[in-house]
Amino acid sequence: MRDPQFLGRDVISARDFGRKQFESLLREAAELERHPQRLDGAQRGKMAALLFFEPSTRTYSSFQIATERLGMRVSGFAGPSGSSVTKGETLHDTVKMFEGYGADVFVIRHPKMGAARFASEITERPVISAGDGSREHPTQAMLDLLAISKAFPRIDGLKVGMLGDLRYGRTSSSLAYALSNFDVEMTFIAPDALQMRPEVAHFLKSRGVTPRKESSLQKVIGELDVLYVTRIQKERIPDPTEFEKVKGMYEVNLETIRGAKPTLKVMHPLPRVDELATELDETDHAHYFTQAAGGLPLRMVLMNMVLGGAS
Ligand code: NCD
Repeated sequence: MRDPQFLGRDVISARDFGRKQFESLLREAAELERHPQRLDGAQRGKMAALLFFEPSTRTYSSFQIATERLGMRVSGFAGPSGSSVTKGETLHDTVKMFEGYGADVFVIRHPKMGAARFASEITERPVISAGDGSREHPTQAMLDLLAISKAFPRIDGLKVGMLGDLRYGRTSSSLAYALSNFDVEMTFIAPDALQMRPEVAHFLKSRGVTPRKESSLQKVIGELDVLYVTRIQKERIPDPTEFEKVKGMYEVNLETIRGAKPTLKVMHPLPRVDELATELDETDHAHYFTQAAGGLPLRMVLMNMVLGGAS
């Protein structure tokens, strides 16, 4: 059966998808985790262009492995060095070129906001954003939902706290958009300078969701089911003196989560720097490696659905 909800679609913003679509993705990904070989070779003969204009470890490699497992050929680059981007080649020309080489789908990461949308206007092929400036990271939000759904019987009713650099981070805004489809209580925990951008609050409001804003983790830690920690986005903070002011402002460790529910799950899109202590890794709270591992099945089912594969 083809899934018309994703067939041929661009995946640019988590705002573009509704509850039904997220649920169908989560179902498919869970099914793939139960039967890991079931989509092997499902898109044989097709080609994915992975164009990463920004560094990446997890996102690039999980897309690469996912597309290879589907039987596809993979082309492109994993970062700007080693490609003609360093010579000044534009996104437009790069997309056109890979279209000429027969790419069936594009996966694009770019430091500039709006780059994935721009690419989707250049090519008829579906474009999947793998991170777009400081605004969106829709497939990360999808795998974050998958991780939450694995840890709890239902997403509805959960209390989710997002901590850290909510202003310049793109994972927390995409996750907030995705969670607005569920009956979830969101708390944004950050110093003023790093609080969530107004456009996110506006969108959530249009969905009838009003997140709480806090500056102290201590105040809310005891209520949370999920604590989503994020890194300070040093490379995106426009003023280095601003970075100096906020760096080291928060760290999640055994001490800071004292008083949390025993069932609290700590998540993080990774990479972590010093905001999440490794001493948590061996506790039942640590959910970030499970979270990252889900990126592979999630991206495999997403790619398969976008390309119109059997589900
Ligand atoms: C994130 C990103 O690139 O936005 N990483 C990821 O894709 N897992 C988070 C970050 O860089 O802090």
